[in-house]
Amino acid sequence: MKLTGEQQKMLDGERGEAVQQSMEILVALGKIYGAAGMVPVSSAQIAGVSYKTIGEAGLEYLSDLVKKGAKVKIPTFLNPAGMDREQWEKMRVPADFAKKQILVLDAFAAMGINPTCTCTPYFIGIRPKVGEHVAWAESSAVSFCNSVLGARTNREGGPSALAAAICGFTPDYGYHLDAKRECRLLVDVRVPLKTNADFGALGAFVGPLAKNKNPAFEGLSKETANEDKLKALGAAMAASGSVALYNAKGITPEWNVSGEAERVSFGPEELAASRKSLTSADSPPQLIAIGCPHASLAEIEEVAHRVKGKKVAHQLWVCTAKETKQKADKAGYTAIIEAAGGLVVADTCMVVCPLKEMGFSCTSTNSGKAGKYLASMQQQKVVYGDVDDIIVVK
Ligand code: F3S
Repeated sequence: MKLTGEQQKMLDGERGEAVQQSMEILVALGKIYGAAGMVPVSSAQIAGVSYKTIGEAGLEYLSDLVKKGAKVKIPTFLNPAGMDREQWEKMRVPADFAKKQILVLDAFAAMGINPTCTCTPYFIGIRPKVGEHVAWAESSAVSFCNSVLGARTNREGGPSALAAAICGFTPDYGYHLDAKRECRLLVDVRVPLKTNADFGALGAFVGPLAKNKNPAFEGLSKETANEDKLKALGAAMAASGSVALYNAKGITPEWNVSGEAERVSFGPEELAASRKSLTSADSPPQLIAIGCPHASLAEIEEVAHRVKGKKVAHQLWVCTAKETKQKADKAGYTAIIEAAGGLVVADTCMVVCPLKEMGFSCTSTNSGKAGKYLASMQQQKVVYGDVDDIIVVK
């Protein structure tokens, strides 16, 4: 790998131990993937923030970096943590977990990282431009960044994103290069899709077919496929098939499809079957979880509209970024949802919080990604459906 003089000094330890350790990670990655050099990145998003995910070993790793004087060089923010720092007691998060989670968040803050924990940074003003290079980690944010914004990022791991944040660059391989961004699976959508759950079902269908081909979609309507729906689609494909980039004809900034792309169609039968496959419960849910990826203001408004003046039959969380929650507070949506018995929770989500330890075993969602991960990572029975179906009101 070709390093600049300054990068070599960083690797040799002349800029401190934390920088040297980070450079070693980046150089090792670059060598594995055959990168010619490094590319500067304008922001980083760190995954591995929930204490549930990283445990004691992760906390020790972060504390060690803090001791070594690690500081980030570029705007850096976090993926959702295991709880809402302000509302963890209302969420019924165990106190010993909360104590550890706060230590993790404090370690990140000590490195100069923005304490906002969200997988939808693009809803709070962090929107890299077409062609801009970043180092983001959370899979749905990576998909949105590459596909909807047309910026460029690999699907970073927690340590590699943190290393990029500390050094200000990342190895130049994968989705940073034109060659990796071509789509080789063409999906002909032959059924009108209306809701997040429809787009999530499309994503759950395409993810396993895509393998290492990037999918491209024909037949999506520009009017319906707004940013909320595109994030639902990308998240479901990332969860079911590790898809990090897709194109949608006439909608995404890139339309880069191979002439030899494999073709597949998605019609009413596939939609019904995919929606059905995401439900595994035969009992009523204990928790309704909306906001995977983190809800936009419009999605919070939709929930508020559904529950206004009523009571929800089960516990209800709407997961979002802190900044989006503040807007929902101002608009009065949070108060409406709380009056109905629900919660708008910030900085966390149903997949990274200790759901089982909190006593939940059956959860409903309108997210294709949450549908997959609630079953596999949180051992939940899942009810999948549209907001109007899954939010049962009295
Ligand atoms: Fe975001 Fe959690 Fe879903 S990180 S994409 S809300 S699993």
